[in-house]
Amino acid sequence: MKLTPEQFAQFDRDGYLFFPGLFSSEETKTLTAAVPELYSRREAYNVREKGKDAVRTNFAAHLYSEPFAKLARHPRMVEPVQELLGEALYMHQFKINGKQAFDGDVWQWHQDYGTWKNDDRMPTERAMNVAIFLDDVNDYNGPLMFIPGSHKRGVVDARHDLTTTSYPLWTIDNALIAQLVERAGGKNGGIVSPKGPAGSMILFHGCLVHASGSNLSPWDRVSVYLSLCAVSNHIRRFKRPAYIAHRDFTPIETLPDDCLLKDYPVDLPWKNGMPASALATSTDELKLAA
Ligand code: SIN
Ligand code: MN
Repeated sequence: MKLTPEQFAQFDRDGYLFFPGLFSSEETKTLTAAVPELYSRREAYNVREKGKDAVRTNFAAHLYSEPFAKLARHPRMVEPVQELLGEALYMHQFKINGKQAFDGDVWQWHQDYGTWKNDDRMPTERAMNVAIFLDDVNDYNGPLMFIPGSHKRGVVDARHDLTTTSYPLWTIDNALIAQLVERAGGKNGGIVSPKGPAGSMILFHGCLVHASGSNLSPWDRVSVYLSLCAVSNHIRRFKRPAYIAHRDFTPIETLPDDCLLKDYPVDLPWKNGMPASALATSTDELKLAA
């Protein structure tokens, strides 16, 4: 898939690109079918909603689940990111967010690069977020919301919120959000939320301000969130465990376009369990050759 000059201009202006129905329902089903078993595992990589059993987010499935390992190497996902960043990529983070019917909690307003910078010492914003819908996303099941153009502000002030949900996040205060929304057009386009069928994909800039509300609907909103980072921009600190912020900077090699529907060998290094090293943390900066 080659991006058009208009798509490059749109990404630069708005900070995101939306590809409705990019993966077929047959392809998407190979992923959706694997989710309940992954979510049932009592492992550190399944973070549950505060006070509930529902999974908020599952980390690193591409290292132990075959369909997700293939998605992580899918050319329809990797190639446009590579075009936009102009460099080989590695997988910085891989999540399957549950946003389960009735139980899915909010994601407060934030920028992902804020966390990558503050926690992981990622040198620059040369990394991309990708969202792939595994369920249809509608007005009611907690769609992702963006403030278009907010990536142009670079990294904005944020505070580490350890209490609102079960997952710590660097969040942006309400006054700044109100200002950013007003500048983006207020009630006329200051907040947008791409919605569409399962199989849709969004690419969004690491500095794009985003959030999502809770899911009070009877419909799950499972989505995969992948963060792909330019190899030269790899993280410099291992404060977060490796199952959350990966430390393997090997460039992603893509599989053929039909990989979700056919058998292709993929490496599953954590198939028989996560190594203890994946839970280890360190606040030392990496002393790597430049
Ligand atoms: C995220 O920002 O990482 C997740 C947002 C969502 O699942 O709605
Ligand atoms: Mn985010």
